[in-house]
Amino acid sequence: MSKRFYITTAIDYLNGEPHLGHAYEKIVADVIARARRSFGTEVFFLTGVDEHGQKVQQAALAQGQSPKAYCDELAVIWKTLATRLELTNDDFIRTTEERHQKVVQAILTQLNNQGHFYKAAHRGFYSAKEETFLTEKDRLPDGNFPASYGEVAEIEEENYYFKLASHQQWLIDYIEANPSFIAPDYRRNEVLGFLKNNVLEDLCITRPVSRLNWGIPIPFDPAFVTYVWFDALVNYISVPASLQDPLLADALAGRAADPTASGTLWPADIHLIGKDILKFHAVYWPIMLKAMGLQQPCQILVHGWWQREGHKLSKSTGNVVDPLAVIAEWGLDAFRFYVVRELAIGPDGNWTDAGFASRYQAELANGLGNLVNRSLSMLKRYRNGVIPAPATDLQVDAERAVAETRGHLEQNQLQAALVSIWSLVNRANQYVDQTQPFKLAKDPAQAKRLDEVLYNLVESCRVLAVLLAPFLPGTAAKIYSQLALPDAPDRFDKTAWGGLAAGHVIGEPAALFPRKDRPAA
Ligand code: MSP
Repeated sequence: MSKRFYITTAIDYLNGEPHLGHAYEKIVADVIARARRSFGTEVFFLTGVDEHGQKVQQAALAQGQSPKAYCDELAVIWKTLATRLELTNDDFIRTTEERHQKVVQAILTQLNNQGHFYKAAHRGFYSAKEETFLTEKDRLPDGNFPASYGEVAEIEEENYYFKLASHQQWLIDYIEANPSFIAPDYRRNEVLGFLKNNVLEDLCITRPVSRLNWGIPIPFDPAFVTYVWFDALVNYISVPASLQDPLLADALAGRAADPTASGTLWPADIHLIGKDILKFHAVYWPIMLKAMGLQQPCQILVHGWWQREGHKLSKSTGNVVDPLAVIAEWGLDAFRFYVVRELAIGPDGNWTDAGFASRYQAELANGLGNLVNRSLSMLKRYRNGVIPAPATDLQVDAERAVAETRGHLEQNQLQAALVSIWSLVNRANQYVDQTQPFKLAKDPAQAKRLDEVLYNLVESCRVLAVLLAPFLPGTAAKIYSQLALPDAPDRFDKTAWGGLAAGHVIGEPAALFPRKDRPAA
């Protein structure tokens, strides 16, 4: 089997319920996955949940549940979110699964045998809330640690450490030699700045069972479990390994893998993550992979963080956006549209309820919805729904939008792709105003012109369905179904102008985006 395009998301902690930020990341990954499939590329899209670690153990405890029972309950909620977002993920990893734990343990054994780890005692100030030892740099000018670290206690603890410093220069060179390894550029510069101005401290990769028992046991020392990040990052290879990617089979069996060969999935093409977990992905993970003799992922693609109405999303202040509530009120495609259209992959975003309603009204209901509805309705009314002979007034506009959209999608510029798609929506709506088909219909001498206008409009709607399919899959399918086309808008090359054949009879038009300014009829 040849290499598939392999895209992953961060795996979410099961210490609460999903919010806008989690849903956003998964939708972005899904749009990229669907777009690549539409180009004819074989794709593997992985998402899942991160179940171990102190955060989850504490959350379970607070609910009076065992971590396992707590995770089993929450995993259902998170899997349901994936379904409700209509994600086309090919797998869903839970880090408590045996297939994952086996790989984590195999890697630990191998790296330990190869001398990458050592055991040492550390005395220092520990924040249980952040699950981390603090350093002198973390102190406030008054000598105290910021309240955000919660209770800080001085403790001494033995742990295993992963030697990082000897890889530091290699990593700098690697990032400099591979400019697209971390995107956008400013995130790459951030990582380079960090690496060039700090000496990498060795990474503590265990927690004593006495302090944390909700983790994967270290195979060579039963007194310790694996630090949650060493466990979580491995999901990106444990799933391919469980699917028999030959490259990983070699690496995990300790056989030297050909460093230039690709497996069926590994290396990943894109790790999509939020900005807060950049260091784990762009510093620790590459070094872990290098130590394992595995290739680096092609790209770490870093998105920004959402706020709502200018404030941090926070359960305690009630400032959250519940994806399922928005979907229940406005529909899934409206939610998918807003988050991708509002925010490019990179900067931070600000959700506003007014902004959401206004994009819904202007771009979905009055823009796309109105275009499709009036185009199909006029074809029904004036031509009994029968497609006239092909015409080409809007062909150039459509082809421009198609070429631009393709270019943007190839660069994962999803917001820009939507702007290009809407250039065709707007052009076609303008064309209705310019050609005034309702007037042409009153003049029998204009019958041929009316045929041309109707063809241009309805064919534009069809092309739009194909362009929109990765973003608004339900809407694209509805347009195809209203056009009574037997196939799906699932291949980008179906954007070629002239797909609707003369004589084809369309189905019933129906509103795609009900208006929200009037009470529902
Ligand atoms: N479990 C780790 C990731 C391990 S990946 C090997 C984790 N989980 S998380 O649940 O805290 O975050 C999951 C993802 O959601 C991260 O990429 C994070 O950046 C993203 N987001 C969490 N809140 C967010 C916003 N407010 N806005 C956008 N994305 C945000 O970190």
